[in-house]
Amino acid sequence: MLIKLPRTSACKESDVTPEGFYLSRRALLGGSLAGLAVGALPGVALGADPSRYADVEPGNAPAWFNEKLTSTQWQAVNVKNEAITPFKDATHYNNFYEFGTEKSDPAKNSGAFKTEPWKVVVDGEVGKPGSYALEDFMKPYQLEERIYRLRCVEAWSMVIPWIGFPISALLKQVEPTSKAKYIRFETLQDPKSMPGQRSGFALIDWPYVEGLRLDEAMNPLAILAVGMYGRELANQNGAPLRLVVPWKYGFKSVKSIVRISLVSEQPKTTWQSIAANEYGFYANVNPTVDHPRWTQAHERRLPGSLFSPNIRQTEMFNGYGEEVASLYTGLDLRKNY
Ligand code: MTE
Repeated sequence: MLIKLPRTSACKESDVTPEGFYLSRRALLGGSLAGLAVGALPGVALGADPSRYADVEPGNAPAWFNEKLTSTQWQAVNVKNEAITPFKDATHYNNFYEFGTEKSDPAKNSGAFKTEPWKVVVDGEVGKPGSYALEDFMKPYQLEERIYRLRCVEAWSMVIPWIGFPISALLKQVEPTSKAKYIRFETLQDPKSMPGQRSGFALIDWPYVEGLRLDEAMNPLAILAVGMYGRELANQNGAPLRLVVPWKYGFKSVKSIVRISLVSEQPKTTWQSIAANEYGFYANVNPTVDHPRWTQAHERRLPGSLFSPNIRQTEMFNGYGEEVASLYTGLDLRKNY
């Protein structure tokens, strides 16, 4: 992410499923395609149905996930008239430095990564701290499908159907104290299973850390995801638990989370620590504030090809301004990039 300039996707045109397929499938399954509607759609309980997405590879989900999936609220949030990125692209063009720095490395190197059993710690400024097995951690939450744009700071983008729950629901459970101003997320540190953490050349001071202001975390669009494309998360996408914050650059959406801490000070985040002039704490998608080494005015929607790079204008807050702009009233977004 730091050193590499955006490259053309390696995807072939033949990998692309025609947009019409997804749109008509979604129209059939979810009824309305009305733009963004947080929690507004009635939801269709379809159960685990891998055929909802044409190219999805079957996973190997734990029992708790399959059980929860049956009551998932499908298409709780959708995007309007934009094709969902084929599963193959979403799972073979990844940033997950714990498994290597090439886009194809996470898929290649995370196959044997063990995500069960998995422990999540909640600590810091909370009335109810705890250390949970993931299935217990997940018990209180109703799963929702959230079809979101994902915009990487490297100027490529995708549309991904996540399955997760709002962080606000977690915050309600753990009862932040009055001192809690930020939420900090930490990825697993396990060099034995994460080859990138063994590399002597890694720029990152592991574990990977990200954070949000508490009011950002409370926004209904901010979720913790456990699934994608109607199944559990693929390892390369951050199984078994990751953050998804669709109005921010993708590096905020930390993967394979093991610790969630409520804190009083702004956390030191991974990319900000590496190059604060390039990667800010806020990292809101903003077409008017360029990265020092490339423009953020447009992006490549994947998949594309050399001859058809699928360039589109980047939208302020990645198109979620109506829902999130008020979080930043009075904040200079040029300084607070
Ligand atoms: N989380 C961890 N732990 N390690 C990483 O290297 N990369 C980030 C983010 N989360 C990263 C991470 C970046 S730069 C992006 S763009 C997104 O994950 C990519 O998510 P995806 O691979 O599921 O598309």
